Amino acid sequence: MKHFINLKDISAKDLRKILVDAKKRKKNRKKLSTLEVDKNSPLKGKLLIQMFEKSSLRTRLSFYLAIKQLGGGTLTLRSNELHLGEGGETLEDTAKILSTYGDGFMFRTDSDFKIKSLKNYLSIPIINGLSPSSHPTQVLSDIFTVEEIKKKPISKLNITWIGDSNNVLNSLIVASVKFNFKLNIGCPKNYGPNKFILDWVKRNTKKIKIFNNANNAAVNADVVFSDKVISLNDRVNKKKKLSQFKNFRITQKLMSYAKKNCIFLHCLPRGSEVEEKVFFSKQSKVWQQALNRVHVQKSILLYCFGKLR
Ligand code: CP
Ligand code: NVA
Repeated sequence: MKHFINLKDISAKDLRKILVDAKKRKKNRKKLSTLEVDKNSPLKGKLLIQMFEKSSLRTRLSFYLAIKQLGGGTLTLRSNELHLGEGGETLEDTAKILSTYGDGFMFRTDSDFKIKSLKNYLSIPIINGLSPSSHPTQVLSDIFTVEEIKKKPISKLNITWIGDSNNVLNSLIVASVKFNFKLNIGCPKNYGPNKFILDWVKRNTKKIKIFNNANNAAVNADVVFSDKVISLNDRVNKKKKLSQFKNFRITQKLMSYAKKNCIFLHCLPRGSEVEEKVFFSKQSKVWQQALNRVHVQKSILLYCFGKLR
């Protein structure tokens, strides 16, 4: 049994295996419709329990389709409808019940501590479907999308992130070490990655550069990533934060500093950080990016269930 909590804890070899499997599976089901099951139904009879403490559209749908296409099924819970959410039942008891009824647990949470504690009590795999510190399933899928579009390993590309130092960026930073790619980060001075991440980066790679000027960060980019300035449940003065990011919008001008065939990616949902002219341009591959999450979630599930070949 393997958990999928943080890209840091998974070997580069296993992460690559997940992407190779996703590519094969995506190709093999070109003629199948949405709910048809992959050949051999590798997760036949398995139940994935999903729980959301925060809103979700893509993660919820992609895991639903992923387990269905592998022959299993899913049940979605909202924590505020459980005894756990109301404080009447412990994490330990909840985890024991989840392990008794289900075969895997996908959790989107407000608390990294909760994931760690649940992991200790669960006897089934847990997948982090977004936490305050990381969004590993999103970023692994984004690497898949980049390589699919660019038809090259990501290690040969220049990747740029413009925006907040949030959970998605944290996972992208870890991915840059695991997949060995160059990463430029463009963010305002007081919004850089935290010291813990930077120390880890220093020990592991010299391929990350931080710029406090967005255009400079975009120079020569093959891919520009962004995300909302205000993340889910970001407890900050929103007006003030948005104004501090006013020079970090993805505009056509900013994209002109990147390579001509540079693509734009965004995990969604979006805010005002990207202008519509870019978001709806040919360079923007956000819909393909969103749909690819189904394919990569499938291989993540197979990895967790010990069925990745
Ligand atoms: N990108 C992403 O995780 O989307 P949701 O919040 O809609 O799941
Ligand atoms: N950084 C964003 C990602 C949403 C998918 C958030 O945490 O809200």
